[in-house]
Amino acid sequence: MLEIATHASSTEQCSNSMHTCVYTKWLMETGKVCVPVRILAEVHDSEILLSLEIKTNSIRLPKYAYPTDNGAASSLQIDAYIHTCPDVERIIYSKVEEAVMNDPRMAASLLRLHFHDCFVNGCDASVLLDDSNTFVGEKTAVPNLNSLRGFDVVDAIKCELESVCPETVSCADILATAARDSVVVSGGPGWDVPMGRKDSLSASKTDANNNIPAPNSDLNTLITKFQNVGLDYTDMVALSGAHTIGQARCSSFSSSLQGRSSSSSSDGPVLDLQFLASLKQLCSNSENDNNATLTALDLATPATFDNQYFINLVSGEALLPSDQALVAGNSPTLEIVESYVIDPLAFFEDFKRSMARMGSLSPLTGENGQIRRNCRVAN
Ligand code: HEM
Repeated sequence: MLEIATHASSTEQCSNSMHTCVYTKWLMETGKVCVPVRILAEVHDSEILLSLEIKTNSIRLPKYAYPTDNGAASSLQIDAYIHTCPDVERIIYSKVEEAVMNDPRMAASLLRLHFHDCFVNGCDASVLLDDSNTFVGEKTAVPNLNSLRGFDVVDAIKCELESVCPETVSCADILATAARDSVVVSGGPGWDVPMGRKDSLSASKTDANNNIPAPNSDLNTLITKFQNVGLDYTDMVALSGAHTIGQARCSSFSSSLQGRSSSSSSDGPVLDLQFLASLKQLCSNSENDNNATLTALDLATPATFDNQYFINLVSGEALLPSDQALVAGNSPTLEIVESYVIDPLAFFEDFKRSMARMGSLSPLTGENGQIRRNCRVAN
């Protein structure tokens, strides 16, 4: 039986506004070694339920975090910087917290940056590279142009890390950790982020155009794009839950509005008429600049990471056609959406698992890649 001493120190913060919160504490086993203890705090009608899960040092992560067909991913480690940059997680968290305080949308933007990085030749920070003499980078690819945000925040994090532990922490690890912290500061779950990714020396606009799913993709295309990188349709539905925060431009969805008004029930819930009318109104006012007019992906709770996105889908309030595709009649994804509507914790669990899987996609490790000094250019 493990006795826990009182001098526990938390490695991650949980905010008061969270419904659930998972974090790791290092607790002293009486007399001797430190063991990590995973603490799940659930808030039920202002009662806090705590459950403890003791993790041994040999099993630091659930199996799913390391896809077996991806050898490089298994060399990522939770404490990769424990000796070389022990404050790395604290520094990233506080920078993300500060950035989101100044600009609440930034949480969504940082989460999306990690997704757009990992889908293009793995999580190697290629998305951050400016164009060079030898390649055209990903920033001007269709899914990214006038849309991706957060580069300055990544620069600020990198700058601080370079002053504390120079040439040590990769830009790819910053993206993975900032994505997790963005979810946490928005009231979502936390999870361990294994680190040790290296940064790429190049980027590819063509691959970004080909690999990142488009908002007007049909369900089969969406599933294929996820399968191409080794993720399944459960990952796709869970990760799409990221659209519970953030915003989209009229140019991402307005062209589909006309067609969607005549949706039949076999295409999923018909779009709510009032919702549709308000979107048409919004985007018709912005005909001259479809890139500048924005609306929340989740109108009900736009800045809170919760399961409201899935409630919106079954209520006919999906903003993007690709969101609506998830609830098309008879689709295998509909059942998963419905399960997240009734069970927010199931969504959180699957989201954490799928983020860990996405974050492990084809990392550069060992001799491959480099630690960039400036995330925008290869050394
Ligand atoms: C299933 C396929 C997906 C498609 C087709 C898609 C498409 C889009 C589009 C078109 C936007 C709006 C961009 C704009 O108008 O500027 C957007 C925003 C966003 N996406 Fe996705 N997305 C997908 C999956 C994901 C995934 C897997 C994540 C993260 C895990 C994610 C996170 C976000 C976030 C957080 C935003 C808001 C960003 C902001 O406000 O800056 N998306 N997505």
